[in-house]
Amino acid sequence: MTGRRIEVLYTAETIAARNHDLAEAIRAAGYGENLLVVAVLKGGFVFTADLIRALHHAGVSPEVDFMSLASYGAGTASSGTVKVLRDLETDVTGRNVLIVDDILESGRTLAHAKRLLAERGAARVGLAVLLDKPGRRVAPIEADFVGFTSPDLFVVGYGMDMGHAFRELPYIGHVVDAD
Ligand code: IMP
Ligand code: MG
Repeated sequence: MTGRRIEVLYTAETIAARNHDLAEAIRAAGYGENLLVVAVLKGGFVFTADLIRALHHAGVSPEVDFMSLASYGAGTASSGTVKVLRDLETDVTGRNVLIVDDILESGRTLAHAKRLLAERGAARVGLAVLLDKPGRRVAPIEADFVGFTSPDLFVVGYGMDMGHAFRELPYIGHVVDAD
């Protein structure tokens, strides 16, 4: 039997520095006023927790709410169904909304979330993701703020899991077989 080890892709220090740059970019793009940060659970919770503190250092005071989404069915963007498992408690009407999630891959779930919040009357709906995997996109969606453009590897840590494990790692890594 072979064990598994985790190869570090982005260290805690690298992520922290990037979060501060992202917060500054978010402020500079005019999201600072009347901002509602929407953390997408579960994977986005660690990134959101650090990003809101970086926003504080950038002089932005966001409100924060949480949303949980599940996407079913493979195939094209139109055939995939997205279900809201936990909805916002906040009225987004007229707000600057910034959706924050871990990874933008097919884009199916986040395209749905963006559309939903725009339909509810948000003034602006932006998207910040820690990692972008552009090669995997199915839905026509791009993030406004990207931490890192990720290699097409399965990654864990910093909120991201593999079979519910590894969310607690302070860095982002890739699981490899250790022979
Ligand atoms: P999509 O953009 O709708 O395909 O959804 C991407 C979601 O799939 C992310 O928010 C993660 O929850 C999950 N995911 C995609 N790639 C990875 C990975 O490499 N590690 C852990 N979760 C992943
Ligand atoms: Mg997710």
